[in-house]
Amino acid sequence: MDKLLIRGGVPLAGEVRVSGAKNAALPLLCAALLTDQPLRLANVPHLRDVTTMLGLLAQMGVEVNVDEQMCVELNGAHLRNPVAPYELVKTMRASILVLGPLVARHGQARVSLPGGCAIGQRPVDQHLKGLAALGADIQVEQGYITARARRLQGARIVADLVTVTGTENLMMAACLAEGTTVIENAAREPEVVNLAACLNAMGARIAGAGTDVITVEGVRELGGASHRIMPDRVETGTFLVAAAATGGTVALRDADPATLDAVIGKLREAGAEVGVDGATIRLAMRGRPQSVDVRTAPYPAFPTDMQAQLMALDAIATGAGVITETIFENRFMHAQELARLGADIDISGNTAIVRGVPRLQGASVMATDLRASASLVIAGLVAEGETLIDRIYHLDRGYEAIEEKLARLGARIRRVH
Ligand code: EPU
Repeated sequence: MDKLLIRGGVPLAGEVRVSGAKNAALPLLCAALLTDQPLRLANVPHLRDVTTMLGLLAQMGVEVNVDEQMCVELNGAHLRNPVAPYELVKTMRASILVLGPLVARHGQARVSLPGGCAIGQRPVDQHLKGLAALGADIQVEQGYITARARRLQGARIVADLVTVTGTENLMMAACLAEGTTVIENAAREPEVVNLAACLNAMGARIAGAGTDVITVEGVRELGGASHRIMPDRVETGTFLVAAAATGGTVALRDADPATLDAVIGKLREAGAEVGVDGATIRLAMRGRPQSVDVRTAPYPAFPTDMQAQLMALDAIATGAGVITETIFENRFMHAQELARLGADIDISGNTAIVRGVPRLQGASVMATDLRASASLVIAGLVAEGETLIDRIYHLDRGYEAIEEKLARLGARIRRVH
């Protein structure tokens, strides 16, 4: 199993390009199930989760072509097997995103029920409740969700809580429903907006994406389209925090700064100078950061997907920071690994108190989930001596060529087998 070996202590310096967003790419790939025309997606990130999703779509009968520039063309004209098997769903929960499109266009779907995962229970009750409101007949048996419908019917859906993939699943399904669907308490994440833009280019009639009320006027069918996947705001944020933690100076190209207000705000509070010039974000940090308090919440508040990285920053800051996680019930597993590097962190329920220490010391640590892994990389870049990070397959799910990009910024990092 691959590991990452980092020799810390080098301030990051230079320029890198931001990749396409994983969490936009995954629902966009599923949108191909809504049409028998080709869907062309540009700026698709080269990630394990994307490969898994392409494999899932291909075994259903979607034709997949990928060129060297990672432009992906999908054609769902000859779908034969509307099933997402346990073996694939268990490795990637986002597989649930095939459910809405399949039942909307094919009238049936069989999708393995995603289990809990390392960061929390993560039920899909809101996806199922919404599809039932659209008229689907839903059964859960032997670990599989079976959904059937002749044609979905538009409905008013009020989500009990803000769910990103839940909103995306229902928005995709509603595109082909008869009549108008209103999704209230919808997720406002930029990835939802990016998906709606692609669906509208395919002929859908969606209004309100980016607000908490999304209205979808159903149409008979959708056509093909060409769409560019938005920049990854979590990758961008991760590199910004890494630069701030190491006292570096970086420029990130092809970013979407407007999607990063909460993160950039916290970095400025920590003492970083952050400038925005079109699609480029520059960050410079002198000296140790000041600790910041963070509370995660749905967009546009501070994202849960950046919580672990910010904890690594607070770990070496002056003062103490209070970090509150409100989205997932078990997303502090990086804390005990950071402690192995010398961080001083107390956890009580969903709150972490991080007392900054002047320096961390390299050690062997274990990645437990994607963003936890990113926080260990950041801590390793700061720590004195060598840090060896095990189980980095988590990182490969969501960060494109992370060690190459960090090496380009001067980090002493390499993959060992
Ligand atoms: N929830 C329910 N019932 C549902 C759906 C969600 O109770 O039917 C709960 C979840 O358990 C959680 C909260 O609602 O406590 C929010 O979960 P949400 O559904 O928004 O999460 P998700 O859609 O499964 C996406 C991202 C995650 C990101 C979260 C929150 C994708 C593919 N995944 O997950 O990304 O953390 O939104 O912003 O878009 C990551 O990239 O590392 C990652 C985990």
